[in-house]
Formats: sequence, C-alpha cells, structure tokens
Amino acid sequence: MDYNLEQGGPVLNPDAPPSAADYKAPYVDNGADIKDPARYYDETWKDREWARLWSRVWTIAGLVSDIPDVGDFLTYDLLHESFVIVRTGAGASDISAYYNVCGHRGNRLVHAEFGHVSDRFTCNFHSWQWTIDGKLAHVTDAESFKPEVLDCAPDMAPVAMDIVAGVIFVSMDDDPVPLREFLGPVASHMEAFQVDRMNVVRHVRSDWAANWKTGIDAFYETYHLGSVHPQTQPIMGDITTQIDCYANGMSRMIVPIGVPSPHFPDQSSINPGLQYMLDSVGLEPEAFEGGPQDVRPALAAAKRSFSTRFDLGWETLSDVQLTDSFATGIFPNVQFGIHPEGAFLMRFMPHADDPQRFTYDTMTLVRHVDDPNFKVPDWMGLPEGTDCSGRERPDIERTGIGEPAGLGLVLDQDSELLPIVQKGLRSKGFRGPLWSEQEARVRHFHNELDRYIEGEK
Ligand code: FES
Ligand SMILES: [Fe+2]
Repeated sequence: MDYNLEQGGPVLNPDAPPSAADYKAPYVDNGADIKDPARYYDETWKDREWARLWSRVWTIAGLVSDIPDVGDFLTYDLLHESFVIVRTGAGASDISAYYNVCGHRGNRLVHAEFGHVSDRFTCNFHSWQWTIDGKLAHVTDAESFKPEVLDCAPDMAPVAMDIVAGVIFVSMDDDPVPLREFLGPVASHMEAFQVDRMNVVRHVRSDWAANWKTGIDAFYETYHLGSVHPQTQPIMGDITTQIDCYANGMSRMIVPIGVPSPHFPDQSSINPGLQYMLDSVGLEPEAFEGGPQDVRPALAAAKRSFSTRFDLGWETLSDVQLTDSFATGIFPNVQFGIHPEGAFLMRFMPHADDPQRFTYDTMTLVRHVDDPNFKVPDWMGLPEGTDCSGRERPDIERTGIGEPAGLGLVLDQDSELLPIVQKGLRSKGFRGPLWSEQEARVRHFHNELDRYIEGEK
C-alpha cells in the first residue's frame, strides 16, 4: 500500500483552495525522536503540566447554548481549579467568566454544574453574595468586620474568556494570545460546520485508569482501527485518512466515511455497512447500482438534497465535509468530531491528583431542525428516545473506572484497552512510543506539549 511520506499522506480533495476546511495543510516535519514515557505517569510531569500548560492555555469550558437565559450559569473544573461562566445579558457576548471561589474564606462559590440564579450567587458557608456581574453585593454581619478587613473584600475574580462558534474557552493566563490566533484554521472549520447552531443532547463523563495523554494518543489516529475496531473497516477509511497539522499544536484528520478501508478484503460488493449508510440517507441499498466507491458520492448527493429540502445551509460545504468525519484536535485536550448533522465534543480531562487517571468527557451535539421529517442519523449513536429538540439540557451521565461508558462498542473497545496500555507505558521494557506518519497528529501534539513544558512557550 502506498503512503506518501513527503506530502504527509492522503489528500481527499485536491481541488480545495487554501481557505477551505478540507484543504490539505502543508506537511509539518515533526522529526522522529522518541519521547521518555515518564510523561504518562510521573508526578513531577503532572505538576509541570499544571504550572506550564494548564494554567496558561485556552481550554473549552462549555457551550453558549447551555446558558441561553440571563442568570443561567455553568461551572467548569480543570484539575483542582473551578470556574463559573454566567450569562449576564441577552447579547451574544454578554457572558462572563470568573474563578469559582468565595473571596471570604475560599469556599467554592457555585456547586452545581448547571443552574440559574435570579440575580446573585450566594456562598453556602457564610452567605456572602455577588451579582452575576461579579460585584460583591452582601456581607453577612458587615458591622462585625474591622473596616480595613472589609476594604479588602473583593469582587469575583475574572478569568480570560472568549467564544468561537458557540464554544466558550477560558484561559488562566493574565495575557493570553487572542483565542482566534491560538486556534488558527480550526476556528473557521468550526464555523463552517455551524457548530453554534447545535445543541448538546447527550453528555457522558467516564473515568478511565490512564493518563489523559494516553487517551489523546488513541483518539488522534486511525492506525488502530483495523486491530481494535474491525467493525469500522467496511465503511471507514483508515490509511486513507487525511492528516493536517497546524500551528500551536492544533491538528485535524478527515476520516473518509461510506467507503471500505483499503485493508477490507471485499472491495467489490455493497457490504452490509455500506447498505446501512445508504439507508441512513434514504437510499434503497437493493436499488443501488454502483460499486463500493460510488457510495460516498451518493451519500454526499443525498445530503445536498437534504440541505435544499430542510434549508440547512450546507451549500458551502464540499462533498468531503458532507460525508466524512472531521476529527479536529484542539490543543491540548480536545478531539472534536464534526459533521454537518452534529458533533462529538470530547474533552480529555486530567485528574487533579493522579496522573494515571483521566475523565473522558463527551458531549453529543445535534443540529436542531424544526421539521418532523428531518431525522438525526442513527450513526450518531443516540439512545432511543433522546430529546433532540434542544429545549432541555440533559443531565450528565457518569460512569466510574472500569465501567462501560454506554457510548457503544467502539468506545468500550477503547476503554478496555487504554488501562492496559497505561500499565505498559510504565514497563521497564518499554523505551518510548514509535509513531508512524499515520500517528503524525500524536507526535505534533507531544512536540507542542514539550514546548510548554520546556518553557519555550
Ligand atoms: S467562605 Fe464564603 S461566605 Fe464565608
Ligand atoms: Fe479507538
């Protein structure tokens, strides 16, 4: 099988102009060094990541669609730190973000993950209050404080916050690079898919016995599909995936969907997986006249007709954008699998104390279409009866270490494997990962991480 190392692997749309979301970015040579596996388990690595990475970088705190009304808030925890994001007005940018801490004695101010306050936050230790604009509004028994103590009483401490495509980011850096500059082309890709018109319809938080980077590594490549997820082979490209690396550790892979992997033995018939995909867009598999290579274009054409019928605004999307999975890596800890119909926002959240644990936090977003004839596709894997209206924000479902996340077979296969890989990373007999160019995003991510850890960023 050919793999063009110089250009960095396959190109799915050779005609895409540089501004297009499916444009193949120039190859980035990330070298060939072998990283010390201590990064996956060492306590001092975890501490350095806190000091040099997490406390400086932009990370995703939540979605604008989760706080639609004035007074709606969400909280976001990052290791031991916590933030509260609140809607302060009806305008698109009337959202504020603060450290989630009480200025009196350091209690956590807001405890719920989502909620609504009429106009104030109240600390549950001694009932001090702050307005949603962050102003200190009430001190219980204020007369019992020496005036000079109360002179120090603070408003809520703001944290840097910005929004792209309806996604809220925060940074603890006092002077962070502008978010759009940090994201680079990834910002326009999120906008091209109209992520801001999607709502969360499912949210699962699952604890895994592995380092957060062990998780990132596995989700950033398709090299393991044939071995771990053979059920994807009839309908999904693996070695034909397009890989793009951008500045600031951002990356993306476009995984072809609706076409058998070149590794799949049957390249001539419409296998059951392809039949399922045809069926998913209302095409009758028995009546389909082409071969396996004709399915993906047929899916694109069918989705184009949906766009006209349901006024979806997909005219600006290429065929590649209509059919394939845009698995977008937002440095440092996100994989955002974006499709026109919806998206999978996966955050790999490090554990506050244990470098050999992380929380796989995944939100399923769907584009709400106000027409009963429009169906959210089955392949999005939503449980029967999921409310896709966007009216009600679902509660977070939680699973503990070793429990299936309830996110389907592919995820169960990964969650069984990763704790075992994590143990191997600590083996005296393991000298460090040997990444192929199919795993180029993994190397790209680790090189950027090293720039933070070594103080170059
Ligand atoms: S710690 Fe919050 S009011 Fe005392
Ligand atoms: Fe996997």
